Amino acid sequence: MLEISDAEFVTLRDLVRARFGIWYDDQKRFLPLSRLSTRVVKRGFDTYGAYVRFLRDAPKRESEWNELASILSNNETYFFRERAQLKTLAASVLDEFLARSPRVRLWSAACSSGEEPYSLAMTLIETGKVSNAMLSIRATDISPRVLELAAAGYYRALSFRATDRRWRALRPGGYLFLGHAESLFHLTDLYEPVIGPDAIVYRLKAAPLDALRVTA
Ligand SMILES: C[S@@+](CC[C@H](N)C(=O)[O-])C[C@H]1O[C@@H](n2cnc3c(N)ncnc32)[C@H](O)[C@@H]1O
Repeated sequence: MLEISDAEFVTLRDLVRARFGIWYDDQKRFLPLSRLSTRVVKRGFDTYGAYVRFLRDAPKRESEWNELASILSNNETYFFRERAQLKTLAASVLDEFLARSPRVRLWSAACSSGEEPYSLAMTLIETGKVSNAMLSIRATDISPRVLELAAAGYYRALSFRATDRRWRALRPGGYLFLGHAESLFHLTDLYEPVIGPDAIVYRLKAAPLDALRVTA
């Protein structure tokens, strides 16, 4: 098993804090070490000390720091993860924004693989108070690996664990049938009404989020 001296751990901890703002106190010492042990060996270092010196001094350390961002971060995320916050944003906070400007700009500063910025977009657009064209969301993360996933926009079932059924079930072009007393009027512009001789049904517009600017 790899050993690390107290001084080496302090150097590592301070470097990580300076770079990522992630802080490990003494009780959490095992956390970075358990995540790093495989990496240290994979990179061919015999000791943590040599690896820590590499991170601090080596001219080629930048690419290793990029790798470390993915190794050390917890990327847990899913759509609508912070539902209560989204609800607050869609109500009072959005109204406050709109009173100042019709253009809404958001920053998902630790966006992981993109579920958060897309949840923000869906929530705000569903209010009907802001359109795609007037909404821009900047999404950033320290981990290049999760940003690649976000850019690909490919999501597994777990990402949808808290997602409204309508979003999961319908593909663009899919139809939503509501009860005769129900309507989407003033609720969302994601659907277009299809007016038939006997009833109005709603069709999910083609790829409603494609036009959205999510920049990483
Ligand atoms: C637990 S995930 C949460 C993702 C999303 N905000 C959510 O709530 O669903 C935390 C994310 O923060 C990122 N992160 C950690 N420190 C960061 C920093 N200093 N700057 C930007 N992103 C950071 C991690 O890489 C990780 O993807």
